[in-house]
Amino acid sequence: MSSKVIKGGTVVTADLTYKADVKIKGGKIVEIGPNLKADKVLDAKGCYVMPGGIDPHVHLEMPFMGTYSADNFESGTRAALSGGTTMVVDFCLPDPGQSLLDALKRWDNKTSLAACDYSFHMAVTWWSEQVFNEMADVVKRGITSFKHFMAYKGALMVNDDEMFASFQRCAALGAIPFVHAENGDVVASLQERLMAEGNTGPEAHAYSRPPEVEGEATNRAIMIADMAGVPVYIVHTSCEEAHEAIRRARQKGQRVYGEPLIQHLTLDESEYANPDWDHAARRVMSPPFRDKRHQDSLWAGLQAGSLSVVATDHCAFTTEQKRFGLGDFRKIPNGTGGLEDRIPMLWTYGVSTGRLTMNEFVAVTSTNIAKILNLYPKKGAILVGADADIVVLDPKKGKTITAAKQQSAIDYNVFEGKEVMGLPRFTLTRGKVAVEDGTVKAETGHGEFVAREPNMPVNAALSKWKDLVAPRPIVRDPKMMPAGV
Ligand code: URP
Ligand code: ZN
Ligand code: ZN
Ligand code: ZN
Repeated sequence: MSSKVIKGGTVVTADLTYKADVKIKGGKIVEIGPNLKADKVLDAKGCYVMPGGIDPHVHLEMPFMGTYSADNFESGTRAALSGGTTMVVDFCLPDPGQSLLDALKRWDNKTSLAACDYSFHMAVTWWSEQVFNEMADVVKRGITSFKHFMAYKGALMVNDDEMFASFQRCAALGAIPFVHAENGDVVASLQERLMAEGNTGPEAHAYSRPPEVEGEATNRAIMIADMAGVPVYIVHTSCEEAHEAIRRARQKGQRVYGEPLIQHLTLDESEYANPDWDHAARRVMSPPFRDKRHQDSLWAGLQAGSLSVVATDHCAFTTEQKRFGLGDFRKIPNGTGGLEDRIPMLWTYGVSTGRLTMNEFVAVTSTNIAKILNLYPKKGAILVGADADIVVLDPKKGKTITAAKQQSAIDYNVFEGKEVMGLPRFTLTRGKVAVEDGTVKAETGHGEFVAREPNMPVNAALSKWKDLVAPRPIVRDPKMMPAGV
């Protein structure tokens, strides 16, 4: 079995920065220290050696709004590796009425060409005794997170009673609920009104989903999670109203995790005012891009620790697909890309500006989510025994982002023209070099499913506390009871 050493770089983890070589054998990190020797040397001089990025929020070949998202596990994972991300987590979406296990078979069938490791979240899109039972089988398969959509009325949306039932089931199984928090009833009503008033363009998508829609739903999801005694993860937190709800709950001691996207951190609602219909429609996603003031809130959350993870919600549709919504913004497939751009964009707009330290950068791109999903320290770590999922980031290497040179299958990029620094000199997936100085050598089919264990300490602690404070009948002396009872 041949070995490799990443030589002469600076190791940067979520809590340490130090000079060391990193030796790899059999897909794992086997030694960290000075002057290491191996069969092959990867020169990391001037570079930062970091845990590969983990993107916990992607939709590859997702059936949605009458079509499929354009990047599949082949192009999607190649894009990920090209940008320094070495693991993705996709969402398995049962049709309403469909068995969770049947849906899982469909998702398993999509992944044979994956070039980096992956896992799934299971979505709860409807509720029944069958779903309740199958959630246990899903956990046994190593899928310990369950997604709930409070939006997309008539499609993926679940109601409060279903969400409460599912959250309680998550608590019992030691799993964690994920939530897309937007008030789907209010969105549907606003959409109808806007259409009736002749507001049919892509900008109306943003008008129909104001920050209040997200703030209300985020608060509701958090309160429901509290009542169920379960931690909760809020995906694509885009505005101060949602962040405020998360911050407040965390201050009270609740285990709530917020996930801003790189798109919401760096792009704003002025994109929808672009006179070019295609330009605006390509940026239609839920929640929509916001007024710039929300970006300050999201950056502050990453700095203060009230927001935990930066993801992409990579759900790419071609211009042709976006045009399904010409004349009716409700039919524009919702979603944008970003898998390849998350690491360099966050490095450039976060670390290079002084908003984030390098260690905070590693925490929010990799280590925090590895811990939340119980993947740590197999993933998200530079430690002996960890998978050699590593990005060797060259802070002096830059590019101008352009669709013409991207790995993603779509014909545009929402970050087109952005100048970024901080590109991978090497990306390694379980020790295999998948990117070398801009050349993508990703091996189709190399990616493996990563199973996860339930019952994180935080789940156990919450269950214990919930049990301790559960409502119990007061045992009364019969003498204290009214006569005749
Ligand atoms: O617009 C979005 N975000 N599309 C993907 C599905 C979802 O809501 O995450
Ligand atoms: Zn969503
Ligand atoms: Zn999503
Ligand atoms: Zn391989």
